[in-house]
Amino acid sequence: IKSIAVLTSGGDAPGMNAAIRAVVRTSIFYEKRVFGVRRGYDGLIEGDMEELNTKSVKNILNLGGTFLKSARSEEFRTDEGQQKAYEQLQKHEIDALVVIGGNGTFTGAHRFYEKFGVPVVGIPGTIDNDLFGTDYTLGFDTATNTVVDCIDKIRDTASSHNRLFFVEVMGRDAGFIAMNTAVATGALDVILPEENKTFDDLFGEIERGASRRKTSNIVVVAEGNKLGNSFEIAEKVKAHFPQLDTKVTILGHLQRGGAPSCFDRVTASKLGLAAVEGLLNGRADVMVGIVDSELTYTFLQQAVMNKAQLDPEMLRISKILAI
Ligand code: F6P
Repeated sequence: IKSIAVLTSGGDAPGMNAAIRAVVRTSIFYEKRVFGVRRGYDGLIEGDMEELNTKSVKNILNLGGTFLKSARSEEFRTDEGQQKAYEQLQKHEIDALVVIGGNGTFTGAHRFYEKFGVPVVGIPGTIDNDLFGTDYTLGFDTATNTVVDCIDKIRDTASSHNRLFFVEVMGRDAGFIAMNTAVATGALDVILPEENKTFDDLFGEIERGASRRKTSNIVVVAEGNKLGNSFEIAEKVKAHFPQLDTKVTILGHLQRGGAPSCFDRVTASKLGLAAVEGLLNGRADVMVGIVDSELTYTFLQQAVMNKAQLDPEMLRISKILAI
């Protein structure tokens, strides 16, 4: 391998810049050329890339977002799109790829590897923490700290007015953000995509809270839950308990921004370095991750096909401690 390209794809996540920096500097350390591709796979298809040097990535370690920009590419899902991307790699004499992103990013990367045999290594970057083969994805730590900060503030006002707040957090298919932040903020209840919670269950929890004369109540709602969006849930709860003063806050995209936490920066640095060293040691079609504090490489297909599982212990903790 003489030349490596790096791109970020899918939803951005704090820590992506730190990972790009690690990929660039590790490549240069091993005397390889390194290219930054803008706008994910769309940029790859269009040849929107430039060679980077150590200075190109100075002062980005601490920045949220991704300086390479990101996109969810429709065209890369097609044979023509993949062919164009391959031609661009040939044109720029790039012989390996590091892709930073989540599920969709790795699905595309795996197909690309199968078709053209270009060695590709993935770095897990998504605030959702929903990838099999790693305990952490870049951005999760920062995003959950942001959520905790917000919920703490909401609790101040909830308490002053004896209100019940439904706080909706991101997580289209996974409840990791919701689960962790519910425990970290002492939420009365959490509504997760992974569970089949009913309205009766929820009403029961709220009644328990009321019977203990709690002055403020927070229910954390994961975006992808099966009961409905947080406004619908709040409305049903209000219909059942008309005396309750209910409010809804949707935290939305603010969860994706902000300076990466120390943990995300360190993890990004480890994974970026390991991605390049993996490529140079002959790894391909894998995602680099951290499992039980050890660096691991998981085949992309496995990372994509298996579902990351919520820790049942976290659910137990949240239930017991919310009494
Ligand atoms: O995958 C990360 C994520 O933030 C999800 O939690 C959320 O459902 C989705 O991206 C939102 O995507 P977009 O920014 O494209 O609206």
